[in-house]
Amino acid sequence: MRRKITVVGAGNVGATTAQRLAERDYADVVLVDIVEGMPQGKALDLNQAGPVVGYEPKVTGTNGYEESSGSDIVVITSGLPRKPGMSRDDLLAANREIVSGVTREVADRSPDSIVICVTNPLDAMCHVALDTSEFPRQRVVGMAGILDSARFRTFLAWELGVSVRDVTGFVLGGHGDTMVPIVSYTNVAGVPVSQKIDAGRLEEIVQRTRDGGAEVVKLLKSGSAYYAPSAAVVEMIDAIVHDQKRVLPCAALCQGEYGIDGLFVGVPVKLGKDGVEEIIEIELADQEREDLHRSADAVRELVDAMAALGR
Ligand SMILES: NC(=O)c1ccc[n+]([C@@H]2O[C@H](COP(=O)([O-])OP(=O)(O)OC[C@H]3O[C@@H](n4cnc5c(N)ncnc54)[C@H](O)[C@@H]3O)[C@@H](O)[C@H]2O)c1
Repeated sequence: MRRKITVVGAGNVGATTAQRLAERDYADVVLVDIVEGMPQGKALDLNQAGPVVGYEPKVTGTNGYEESSGSDIVVITSGLPRKPGMSRDDLLAANREIVSGVTREVADRSPDSIVICVTNPLDAMCHVALDTSEFPRQRVVGMAGILDSARFRTFLAWELGVSVRDVTGFVLGGHGDTMVPIVSYTNVAGVPVSQKIDAGRLEEIVQRTRDGGAEVVKLLKSGSAYYAPSAAVVEMIDAIVHDQKRVLPCAALCQGEYGIDGLFVGVPVKLGKDGVEEIIEIELADQEREDLHRSADAVRELVDAMAALGR
């Protein structure tokens, strides 16, 4: 039997994710949205690309959840994106309602699924998905760190004029202004990046990475990034589907790791068929550890703000 992957939210990130998944041809894809006809139309269009690109036309678009039953993986992208000048945190109240409602629907019908949360503010929405689904922490994970790291790697590759494939870097912490690019582990084909780029320039690149999402939002004028975000989601899905045990920066519920307890924060995780199979603890420079804690505090503030909003 083919696997089933449900993508909730058929907007920019959701539809692009569905396209990348359809092209992989390893699962049936169910695309859900509240806008009538839109997920059905996008699914039909995606199916009709199958004969040309060479994949089975097995994408279903729907406004309900029946078709999602028994999914192996559920991706939650439903919610509002940022507008120019907005922070991710400005989306808190509206997206919390949407993510909790959606999680209830999918958790009932796909009780064994792995949920990948994408909706912002990302770390807070992971808490909503975990609390609503009551799934174990291994099966609720957020996408952010791969995207933030990809932005960092892109800027570094451009700076050095080398292939992006040879640039390794991790961005940890919450998916917000306090994210923490881990410079000490960033290297070009094994050579620490600090040997290649002076500290001042490196700091500019770090800052551009932190502002990476806002830079795209500002240029687009409506909507936010989706090509790189959907690529990052599908890298996580590949790791789960093929049980690759990839080590990737993702938002995971820390329970003591990195001295953080009961919070979703971006950390290196081992992703395989069971979801988050391990949170990998790496030794950080003092400043990086401090920054990671500051970033976790920012996530804590959002979680507390949600608690204050009540049920
Ligand atoms: N984690 C990350 O790194 C990252 C990256 C990019 C975008 N995002 C976030 O992902 C979310 C989606 O972004 P987008 O660009 O695809 O936005 P979008 O507006 O293009 O799509 C969102 C879709 O969600 C749908 N939706 C709203 N409420 C729904 C509900 N209750 N049930 C089902 N569908 C519902 C909307 O109709 C819309 O089609 C935003 O919150 C955005 O901030 C996160």
